[in-house]
Amino acid sequence: MAKMNENYLNLKESYLFSEVAARVKAYKDKNPDKKVIPMGIGDVTLPLVTSVVEAMKVAASEMGQLTTFRGYGPEQGYEFLRLAISEYYSRLKIRLDTSEIFISDGAKSDVGNITDLFSNDNVIMIPDPVYPVYVDSNLMLGRHIEYLDANEGNNFLPLPDNRHADIIYLCSPNNPTGAVYSKKQLALWVDYALEHDSIILFDAAYESFIIDNELPRSIFEIPGAEKCAIEFCSLSKTAGFTGTRCGYTIVPKALTRKSSNGADISINKLWNRRQTTKFNGVSYIIQRGAAAVFSEEGQIQVKKPLDYYRGNARIMGETLTKCGVYYSGGTNSPYLWLRCPNNMASWDFFDFLLENANVVGTPGAGFGKNGEGFFRLTAFSTRENTIEAMDRFMKLFG
Ligand code: MLT
Repeated sequence: MAKMNENYLNLKESYLFSEVAARVKAYKDKNPDKKVIPMGIGDVTLPLVTSVVEAMKVAASEMGQLTTFRGYGPEQGYEFLRLAISEYYSRLKIRLDTSEIFISDGAKSDVGNITDLFSNDNVIMIPDPVYPVYVDSNLMLGRHIEYLDANEGNNFLPLPDNRHADIIYLCSPNNPTGAVYSKKQLALWVDYALEHDSIILFDAAYESFIIDNELPRSIFEIPGAEKCAIEFCSLSKTAGFTGTRCGYTIVPKALTRKSSNGADISINKLWNRRQTTKFNGVSYIIQRGAAAVFSEEGQIQVKKPLDYYRGNARIMGETLTKCGVYYSGGTNSPYLWLRCPNNMASWDFFDFLLENANVVGTPGAGFGKNGEGFFRLTAFSTRENTIEAMDRFMKLFG
């Protein structure tokens, strides 16, 4: 008899955003006349910028010609894109060899797949609340998780304590709280990881929302991080690639650990081995589009949608302030993390807001136990829908 991985039985019945989508569908099926405004999953609404679209068109036409057609590409990504990303990092004075950059179909896949590299007896440390993929992908393997409390008391930015952890997940700007670690705080984590021989898995998917130049956009801005960290990043929110799919993972060559017989293991080599076996790369057309994001013109063009979403976040923050609702985030982040009005539990507030304002958000409890009583709204709607959603919010709570 085939024996199943029963660790899956320890997961919640469905993935957070699938659960939200199912509840919204049920509501819409029953109320087809209602205009429901989505502010739940962080899905962008503005189209790809023209330099990206043009680059993809050229690439598509290359694929239709005998002389320029391409079959399998390198599993790690084309050199032109890896080079563009290494140049992008050089603005932060971070030097990356292209072989340290791996192109993927998005940060979510790599964040989930990286678990392949680590043995099951590691102690995994994960902040609570946080993006649910970190927890779920480790529960699937039956791993032991130590949670780090993120709350108003620590501005949702937990720091190392006296516990030991082998693998640490950090997300900054944070999903869902919008909190951002300072360089000093991140340096405490890097020092901890170097001291404990642990590895930090740093999710930088929202780095492009940072406007405060003092805040770190990459963990590799912190000296020593190249010896203890892997960084995941994504073009989903930076350049509207949620549907197009492209991300990248930085695995420094300086990152090594000892095998049980004392030999040095290069984590970069291990990830390369994993990717070449289980992944066949991102399509050439998408990679050409992604490379255009990092061009001079692309960088100017993607600023516009980013500013637009920042404008939405500002409107949302102003509304919450007027309503006297506590929130964090929304400044260097596309997420606003608010305390549910009237002390409602977060799924109750989800239902209440859906039924009474036809606005969808994400219940904080879906991000961990400390998320109970909180709620996440995204700034990725259209301006028109953001204003309408906030008018409806004002009517209920203003
Ligand atoms: C979110 O809403 O948390 C993200 O859009 C989910 C994701 O990037 O997978």
